[in-house]
Amino acid sequence: MVSRIVASSIVVGMIAFNASSEEKPKNTPHSLRKQAILLVAFGTSHPDAIKALDNVLEKTKKRFPGIPVRWAYTSSFIRKKLAKKGQMLDSPTLALAKLLDEGFTQVAVQSLHTIPGIEFDDLKAEVEKFTQGPASFKNIELGSALLSNYENMRRAVEGMLAAVPSERQKNEAIIFMGHGSEHHYADLMYVAFQQVLSRHDSLAFIGTVEGHPTLDDVISECRKVSVGKAWLIPFMSVAGDHAKNDMAGEEPDSWASQLKKAGITPAPVLKGTADNDKIVDIWLDNLSAAMKKMDE
Ligand code: CO
Repeated sequence: MVSRIVASSIVVGMIAFNASSEEKPKNTPHSLRKQAILLVAFGTSHPDAIKALDNVLEKTKKRFPGIPVRWAYTSSFIRKKLAKKGQMLDSPTLALAKLLDEGFTQVAVQSLHTIPGIEFDDLKAEVEKFTQGPASFKNIELGSALLSNYENMRRAVEGMLAAVPSERQKNEAIIFMGHGSEHHYADLMYVAFQQVLSRHDSLAFIGTVEGHPTLDDVISECRKVSVGKAWLIPFMSVAGDHAKNDMAGEEPDSWASQLKKAGITPAPVLKGTADNDKIVDIWLDNLSAAMKKMDE
């Protein structure tokens, strides 16, 4: 990681040198030369989940060629856990400070959050620290969370339904596991999501681990229509702890166990939304909108 940062700063140095010489590369708009992208996730220490985040990184680089892309993790718990294994990940503030130190003037920050909840608000506050005073960028913009308007919600519903395994029979339910939030307004996004979801598939439901609707709400809906089997799919960026343990785990309070107890056979799918190209496209469109805003 450290060597990657050093390498990218050398590249940036070369670009800056080219800009002042006669041999500057053609077709590179001036504004691109000092731009950077910072991707932000809660973070994960599961190797397969890290691979999903790498998928987002590759897609971002492809969509915005020539612009350096960095990662930051908001969870200090995950960062500490990774640091013990020698993997150093920055917090958003540290990543932004490094970009500032390297002379970047325009930074687009894109979070892989699903809803604009507590973590998104915290990130917004961190980004705002870099908008004024001596330690500020010329432009810094924060892209929206996944569910930030109706159109994104509709696309997210379609993207999630497209990820349901083709083996699913018409009489089998689909249950998406969202995180849920103590942020009261943002938690309502899941209720809205259910409304759009129901219009696409009457046996598709969303429940949350820490908010509303709850799994009990979902089970009671499933009972009304006598569902015998339900596909369980995470509606979170990665299939990390919540998906592996709270959703698909063996413990009696996992969603899989509670469904079994309710007479519904669970079929868990351990794939997060960072692995779902249709969902990643929504985040990248939000990032693109943030980049455009910086050009205004
Ligand atoms: Co959690």
